[in-house]
Formats: sequence, C-alpha cells, structure tokens
Amino acid sequence: MEFVVYMQIDNSFLEKIAQRVKTISGLCLFGAHKDILRHYLEDRLSKMNMNEMEFWNFLDNEQEMRSLINSITIGETYFFREEKHFDFLDTKVFPKLKPNSLVWSAACATGEEAISLAVLNCKHGSKAKIIASDINTNSLAKFEKGIYRPRSFRQDGIKFKKELDNFSSINHDSSTVFDKNFISTIHKADFNLIKRCGSLKNITDGSVSVILARNVLIYFDHDTQREVVNFLIKKLEAGGILLLSTTEISHFQDFEVQGAEKLNFNNVFYFQKTEVC
Ligand SMILES: C[S@@+](CC[C@H](N)C(=O)[O-])C[C@H]1O[C@@H](n2cnc3c(N)ncnc32)[C@H](O)[C@@H]1O
Repeated sequence: MEFVVYMQIDNSFLEKIAQRVKTISGLCLFGAHKDILRHYLEDRLSKMNMNEMEFWNFLDNEQEMRSLINSITIGETYFFREEKHFDFLDTKVFPKLKPNSLVWSAACATGEEAISLAVLNCKHGSKAKIIASDINTNSLAKFEKGIYRPRSFRQDGIKFKKELDNFSSINHDSSTVFDKNFISTIHKADFNLIKRCGSLKNITDGSVSVILARNVLIYFDHDTQREVVNFLIKKLEAGGILLLSTTEISHFQDFEVQGAEKLNFNNVFYFQKTEVC
C-alpha cells in the first residue's frame, strides 16, 4: 500500500505564491480565499511529492499555473444577475445596436451572463456578436456544455426567466440544458484581463459596443481595477457602454477614467465612451 505524506506549507511560501498569483491574474487573496490557495498547494505538493522549492520551479510550467488559477478563482454567477442592468440593456441598449456590433462579457465564468446577453440579442433580432471570455478554462469548458443547475437561476433576474425557456429544456435530473446551436452562437475564449493574453483574438480598440466586466474587479486592488477599466474603455466605440457591478462602479471617481463619463439611468450606473482616443 502506498502512503501519501500530507505536506504542510510555510506561511512565507503561501505569501510568495499569493504574490505570484496576483502578478499573473490580479487576484488579491485574503481570508477564506487565501485558505483555498493553502489547501490547493498542500494537496498538490502532497500528490506530486515535491518540496516548496521544487513546486515553485514547477509553476513555471504553463499548465501547472493554469490549474492553480482555475482552482482559486471564484465563479459565483447566475442568469440575469442585477436584473436592473438587463432592464437597461433591454430597453436602452439592444434596441439601438447595429448589425455586427460586438458585445463582450469579459469575466463570464460559466456563461450565465453571456447567455443572458445572447437571449436579449435574439429578442431584439440585433445580430450583434456575443463574445465571452474568462481566465478560468474549466469554467469555459462547462459553459461549452450549456448545462445548468437550479442555483444558476435566482429571484434576482426572474423577470427574464421566460426568455431563457425559449432556448432550453429541463432534464430529468432538473438541470437546464441549452440548445447546442444557441450556445455555439456565443464566441468563447480564455482571456486574462491583467496579462491581456489568451486564445481570444485581439479585440481592436474602439470596436466594442457593450462590455460587461462585473464582479471581477472586486478581487483586484484599486490600481489594478483602474488599469483594467481604462483598458476596457479603450476597446469601446464612441457611445459604447461598460457595465461593472453596482458596488464596483461606486468605487470609481470620475477623474480616474479616461475618455468616458459615468452616467446613470434608473439607478444603473455605467461608463459611456465619449471619444475614441
Ligand atoms: C464572480 S465571477 C463573475 C461572473 C459574472 N461576470 C457575474 O457577474 O456574474 C468572477 C470571474 O472573474 C474571473 N477572473 C478572475 N480574474 C480574472 C482575470 N485576471 N481575467 C479574466 N477573468 C478573471 C474568474 O475566473 C471568475 O469566473
């Protein structure tokens, strides 16, 4: 019988890895989130039978770092999250989209946000191209399958539930399965908002009509948040819209963003691109 010796790591090693994770992904790990990293590292070192130094070097391997990042991102999401955002998109934004406009869900997790956008796209016959990206490749693989548990549907967003029913059916295990053709209309690719790398093809500056980057900035420090917001604003066409979560946008002062203004429609705060720089 083979025994696995369970490795316990030093706090200093944990801190060093947390710093490396921050440099690569922007994620600032605290409290329970840092405990997730500790458990991951202790499990991995035990399974690989490696000491801290060996594992540190092993993390140069792209696949190994990807697996670490995939294990520590928080993918909490659900359909039509922050319903008022989708009311705004439904009444003010999608009706005005031109054919071939780009709509980008830039931290899409398992895809509930991007599917919500694709549903509005069909509702309005807008023919926009929906792009969905995330740093977590496991989440994107789940998205590709298009199968969702009941926790992806909440009271918040219930107003749009019927629209989702047009593209899905319920399985005997009570999961919701989306039509494969519908799921395939959404362009999915991995993209790291910090390193700006991944399989997502370069998105030209000034080309996107709508970007959603909601509930991802909360994991970054404020300087990083500001850099990501300004990077995304550059991607917007004149008049284009960037939506963050209500909490995230409340942390921004007007002077921190270039080329966009913070506007408010029915308590939905958003950035609108004023010029193409
Ligand atoms: C809490 S989920 C938000 C999902 C969705 N936008 C929503 O609001 O429901 C945060 C997502 O951000 C992704 N993420 C974290 N760091 C990222 C980075 N540097 N680049 C791209 N995505 C990142 C995570 O993988 C996770 O799927």
